[in-house]
Amino acid sequence: MVHKIRVGVLISGGGSNLQAIIDASKSKEIDARVVFVGSDNPDAYGLKRAQQHGIPTFVVDYQTIKKETSVRSLEDLVPKDFELQTCLQQNDQGLSLPFSDRIKAERYFCTRAIFEAALLREMAAGPFDLLVLAGFMRMLTPYFIDRVNTDPSQPRIMNIHPALLPSFPGVDGYGDTYRYGCKVGGCTVHFVDYGEDTGPIIGQKAFEITHDDTIDTVRDKGLKLEWQLYLECIRFFAAGRLRVVPRTYTLENGAEFRRKIVEIAT
Ligand code: GRF
Repeated sequence: MVHKIRVGVLISGGGSNLQAIIDASKSKEIDARVVFVGSDNPDAYGLKRAQQHGIPTFVVDYQTIKKETSVRSLEDLVPKDFELQTCLQQNDQGLSLPFSDRIKAERYFCTRAIFEAALLREMAAGPFDLLVLAGFMRMLTPYFIDRVNTDPSQPRIMNIHPALLPSFPGVDGYGDTYRYGCKVGGCTVHFVDYGEDTGPIIGQKAFEITHDDTIDTVRDKGLKLEWQLYLECIRFFAAGRLRVVPRTYTLENGAEFRRKIVEIAT
């Protein structure tokens, strides 16, 4: 009997990637079972898609939490196991969000930790092997990532990004690709690390952009490839074929380039 991996999915919107994953798990194209779908947005259509398939859902409304933090003391709300100093150091080392001052940085990480602790509480109800971000539009901080990736050598949070990384990280990958005048666009699935769309790349797919294309046709072309790419990457994960390995290259000028990459075992 094939062991099915348990997949948790986080979404913020329509959930067409989620639908592709649900369909593939039902038709046994992937050895996976979706065990929960969570959202930061109560109006996300993807929640309905999950409910139609009897998959448990939850919402942790980021906006409600943000409002609460403006009327109550952050100290009362942050989770007991949250260490602000560690988070700030991790930001300096990897994430490097450009905060204009320390107070803003502190506020950001405290608010995120409150939100992420609520997410983790909801997720604790359904044990999972892999967490898939499928159009989840919130960056996750080290507080959350470290609590999911309990074995740092085996990351288990995947994200899909609508561009060929490392080009065009951020929220509008297809828009940025199109406006830049690229002749090729694409999508990327990667493991999540502390940075914004910087984690080790698992898979990519590309498509041509011609003079007839508009921003909408570029999005359509990309999304169709996303549905295929996510399934391929989940399949590799389910088969235990993904390894993250550190690489070091010495460049011609003597500088060292270090990067963790994903090897796909045959
Ligand atoms: C996708 O384009 C994904 O790459 C991006 O958000 C979009 C989500 O689409 N992060 P959907 O909600 O899966 O339809």
